Amino acid sequence: MISIIVAVAENNVIGKDNSLIWHLPRDLKHFKETTSGHYIIMGRKTFESNGRPLPNRTNVIITRDKNYKAEGCIVVHSLEDAIKEAKEDSEAFIIGGGVIYEMAMPLVDRIYLTKIHHKFEGDTYFPEINMDEWEVTEERFFEIDEKNKYPFTILTLDRKK
Ligand SMILES: NC(=O)c1ccc[n+]([C@@H]2O[C@H](COP(=O)([O-])OP(=O)(O)OC[C@H]3O[C@@H](n4cnc5c(N)ncnc54)[C@H](OP(=O)(O)O)[C@@H]3O)[C@@H](O)[C@H]2O)c1
Repeated sequence: MISIIVAVAENNVIGKDNSLIWHLPRDLKHFKETTSGHYIIMGRKTFESNGRPLPNRTNVIITRDKNYKAEGCIVVHSLEDAIKEAKEDSEAFIIGGGVIYEMAMPLVDRIYLTKIHHKFEGDTYFPEINMDEWEVTEERFFEIDEKNKYPFTILTLDRKK
């Protein structure tokens, strides 16, 4: 199974200047819990934005650069090859960014979608989700608190059969 995991603002923004705009520790906890022990597949820009391989996960980086090296990571040159690398995993995660999400959308079975109830200025967007193709199978709302300055909802979307 291949899933996307993403945090999206109300206006579909997901990033700016190759970094995340918001800081929501509760959502980061969800990301860590969901992806730990699994393959995570990302574009080269998202990898460089993270700055290091994420621990307890097999990091797969997609780049066109045949000489690209990243210690502790698997480097591939297409999404198809990334998915092949992860074929033994019960659930592999596409973790961004915009370009990779766009390519992966038609291929994934599930989307873990954190919807932040706020608009942000940015330069990277998540593709439009056609809700005719997806059903919401889980939904959890999180209010603002001391550490999380914006309210958000974590949804699980499963592709309709
Ligand atoms: N909110 C969220 O949940 C979330 C999650 C992840 C990322 N982000 C944000 O998204 C932004 C980064 O996204 P992005 O769209 O700019 O970049 P990206 O998708 O992370 O990476 C793009 C790179 O992937 C490689 N690539 C793309 N298509 C390819 C193909 N067909 N074959 C081989 N390699 C290919 C290229 O690497 P080379 O240039 O090396 O060839 C390309 O520059 C950042 O702001 C980040 O913070 C947000």
